[in-house]
Parts: sequence; C-alpha cells; structure tokens
Amino acid sequence: MQSYSRSFQDPRRAGRYGEKFRKGLFRRWTHLKEAANLRAALEEVSALGEMDLVCDVPCGAGRWAGLLKGVGRSYLGLDLSLPMLRICREREGLGGRTAQASAWALPLPDRGADLTACIRLLHHVREEEEKGALLGELCRVTARALLVTFLDGRSPKQRLHRGKARILGRPLRRPSWTRGALEEAARVGGFTLVRYWALSPWFSGQTLALFRREARS
Ligand SMILES: C[S@@+](CC[C@H](N)C(=O)[O-])C[C@H]1O[C@@H](n2cnc3c(N)ncnc32)[C@H](O)[C@@H]1O
Repeated sequence: MQSYSRSFQDPRRAGRYGEKFRKGLFRRWTHLKEAANLRAALEEVSALGEMDLVCDVPCGAGRWAGLLKGVGRSYLGLDLSLPMLRICREREGLGGRTAQASAWALPLPDRGADLTACIRLLHHVREEEEKGALLGELCRVTARALLVTFLDGRSPKQRLHRGKARILGRPLRRPSWTRGALEEAARVGGFTLVRYWALSPWFSGQTLALFRREARS
C-alpha cells in the first residue's frame, strides 16, 4: 500500500490520474456509470435527511466533489497526495475545504462527518488487517451514512481473474473483498448495509456500497 500511496506524490502521476477518466471510450463509460451509481446512492442518502459535513476521502482530482457537495451543507476533500489536492482545488474552485490526510488517520472527531465517501481506495489494499483498519476509521468519523467502493470477489470478473492468476502462477493485480467481509467490518463499526450498486460484474467487479449507522450504535 505504501508504494501505491507514494506514487501519487509524483505530480506527473497525479496529472495522469486527473485525466484518466476523460480519455478513451471504456474509461469514459466507466466514469458515466460510476456517476450514475453514485447519484442513485446519494438519492438514498438524501432520504436519510439533511447532511451537514460530507467527507470525500480520498478525493483525488475531485471527480466526485461536485456530486458530493450537492447533498451536504459543507464539503471536505482529504487525500494523502498534495499534487492530487492541488488538481482537486483547481478543478473545484473554492466550493469546499481540502486537506492532506491519511485515510487511516482522519483529522475528524468521532462522528465528525454526516456522510463519508471512500471511492476507489479499498481495492488497492492487500492486507486484511489494513482493510479492517480502514473501514474502522471510516466508521469512526461517520455519523450517518458511509459510501465505500470495493472489488467484489464473487463477481464473475474477479473469479475469472483469480482463476487465471492461479493457473499462470501470477500474483493478483488487485485485491478483492467479499460482500460478507465488508458487511462484517461495517457492522463492527456500527453500520448496516442499505444497498449495493455494481459497475459491471462481468467487466469490472467494482461495486459501490451504501451503509447507514445503526440506530442503537
Ligand atoms: C484511484 S484514486 C481515487 C480518487 C477518487 N476517489 C476517484 O474516484 O477519482 C486513489 C487516491 O488515493 C490517494 N491515496 C493513496 N493512499 C492514500 C492514503 N493512505 N490516504 C489517503 N489517500 C490516499 C491517492 O493519492 C489518490 O488520489
């Protein structure tokens, strides 16, 4: 994980990521479908009532800042990479705050954000312990609703990927997680599943999950 995180400290890598979803038909389709899934999830979030602070971690180049700002009174974009934060601020203007932070040590008090979104980070985390710690930290700072994306290990695409890696004796390119393991980590943090939205089970396995805080927790 450390080398992945470090790679975004390079302004050229950050710049490339900033353009990634604007190039090529498949990438643009991916972005549009992810946006549709996020919009659908945010409709469910709105049904939970008005949100105050929305935390977007990692905010990257601010791909989701516009949509997330739409559901809360204020927006906070957090990322470990200063070059990514710079791109996010340039693109998004002054419509919210941004700060450098690790997703494993968020600069927020317990339940400091009404909604937290963690999009496209978990599928880079290999160690089970690190995955659990990330979910724990996201749950800690979240008062009401949590959005997380992950690679669904049971999706046809990820099953095929694992089978191929086993036969060829290659390491897995991206670590997946099961829905059960994600739900259990969220349950420990006081959250219960609302719904999943898959990007494309056959071509990706990338899945968005919405959790809400359990009334008793
Ligand atoms: C794949 S991008 C996703 C960005 C954005 N959520 C999106 O969907 O476009 C991953 C981001 O994670 C950030 N990152 C990597 N390690 C991190 C860490 N330990 N804490 C916070 N952000 C991290 C990178 O700087 C990068 O901006």
